[in-house]
Amino acid sequence: IDMKLGGVLLCVFLIWVEGSWGDTPANCTYEDLLGTWVFQVSKGGHDKTINCSAEATGESTVTVTLKKLSVATDELGHTGFFTLIHNQGFEVVLRGYKWFGFFKYTEEASKVTSYCDQTLPGWIHDVLGNNWACFVGKKVKSVPARTYYKRLFRNKRFQRPYKHILDYIDAINSVQSSWRAHAYPQHQTYTPQEVQYRAGGPAFQIPRRIHRSPVISDTNMGLTLPEQWDWRDVNGVNFVSPVRNQASCGSCYSFASMGMLEARIRILTNNSDTPTLSPQQVVSCSQYSQGCDGGFPFLIGKYTQDFGVVDESCFPYVARDIPCDVPLNCSRIYVAEYNYVGGFYGACSEAAMMLELVKKGPIAVSLQVYPDFEHYKEGIYHHTGLSDSFTPFECVGHSVLLVGYGRCHMTGQKYWIVKNSWSTDWGEDGYFRIRRGNDECAIESVAVACDPIPKL
Ligand SMILES: *[C@@H]1O[C@H](CO)[C@@H](O)[C@H](O)[C@H]1NC(C)=O
Ligand SMILES: *[C@@H]1O[C@H](CO)[C@@H](O)[C@H](O)[C@H]1NC(C)=O
Ligand SMILES: *[C@@H]1O[C@H](CO)[C@@H](O)[C@H](O)[C@H]1NC(C)=O
Ligand SMILES: *[C@@H]1O[C@H](CO)[C@@H](O)[C@H](O)[C@H]1NC(C)=O
Repeated sequence: IDMKLGGVLLCVFLIWVEGSWGDTPANCTYEDLLGTWVFQVSKGGHDKTINCSAEATGESTVTVTLKKLSVATDELGHTGFFTLIHNQGFEVVLRGYKWFGFFKYTEEASKVTSYCDQTLPGWIHDVLGNNWACFVGKKVKSVPARTYYKRLFRNKRFQRPYKHILDYIDAINSVQSSWRAHAYPQHQTYTPQEVQYRAGGPAFQIPRRIHRSPVISDTNMGLTLPEQWDWRDVNGVNFVSPVRNQASCGSCYSFASMGMLEARIRILTNNSDTPTLSPQQVVSCSQYSQGCDGGFPFLIGKYTQDFGVVDESCFPYVARDIPCDVPLNCSRIYVAEYNYVGGFYGACSEAAMMLELVKKGPIAVSLQVYPDFEHYKEGIYHHTGLSDSFTPFECVGHSVLLVGYGRCHMTGQKYWIVKNSWSTDWGEDGYFRIRRGNDECAIESVAVACDPIPKL
């Protein structure tokens, strides 16, 4: 509700939010995951249309042990790979099969209980995607259930007088000179809930790294990598697709993932194929994510490998959860590989990100969004520590697309160049630069790379 009162634009927001929103509410750790698991498997021989909510498991069992840092072994001693996926679930690749499940949780009003030694019904298929079944996992050594309470905002009023925003922006601009904040007129029309959804949804917290990449050290890379890089201008050629606008749907993870595939197809084909892919398909159809309530680029890499994504023109973006009515005759793009930069979740580093970026193309990264970030206009962003008085939420995680890096001539400050999905009106024509090298806002904590398969 916007009211013009004596020249002062006053916005009063009514918030009534209930139920489940934001990724899944499970909150499990790497330590919870380590150890021996028994997977109860359903009858095999299905195709990708299998519905794992409806399959009976228990046809057979497989015992898998997950060990530091990323080694999975079965009862016969075969070794494979596993990774945690945020605080949400895990993937195991072993003996020609991929297993993926979300950790089990229950919700009663605001009370969330995570059962980190169990999974919800998950998916298993051979690495070629021919043979599908379902499974539930249970860890041999139990982990006590953990409960937390989600904050619900019910019938509460938040006032955002325009003057307060201007005071906040002045404060940001007076405490530092690295970047400049701006009062975006469109921000006055967003409810705090919409702001939250634009920034990734309420539950998406970014845990810190588990381990630095064990393979690549930052020091031995200087010789092989250029001092600066920008996929928008490689000897005058742009390989990055246009900036888009996710609007008030928590679909940043889908835009970051589609943006990565679009740019990498441009790179693979020297710009002879320049598709715009459908973030709406991911929002509407992916069971590996939660639509406008959030998701993770790693799992969209997996979704794209398993199901493929169609062109934007085939299933246009509407910024809402709508049914998955993708026309059957549209062609699909698949990915050959998807992985966490550094090898597994928690192994990311500045050097590994630079190497992947320059060698293969843009990568999906995540950052902690603080209220000051919303007002970014230009320069090299870092969190000022200033909070505003009207944003009812604390920090949330936001997925974006890393396209380059550089160093400021004047100050020597190192930065990343990142594509956002808040339209070209925001930031530096839809992009922002952010401090590089000190894991600013956790931007060097979680990065995902996918290799799309270009058309013949
Ligand atoms: C999730 O777990 C982490 C680590 O145990 C903890 O720091 C964090 O506060 C938890 N988040 C919630 C919402 O409980
Ligand atoms: C999957 O099965 C569950 C439980 O039987 C059912 O509620 C759900 O609608 C099914 N989903 C689809 C996409 O068929
Ligand atoms: C890639 O495209 C550019 C611009 O069209 C062209 O100049 C260049 O020769 C191409 N590169 C290769 C390796 O074909
Ligand atoms: C798919 O079918 C529809 C309706 O039959 C048609 O309008 C559309 O052009 C087709 N699209 C493609 C990509 O073939």
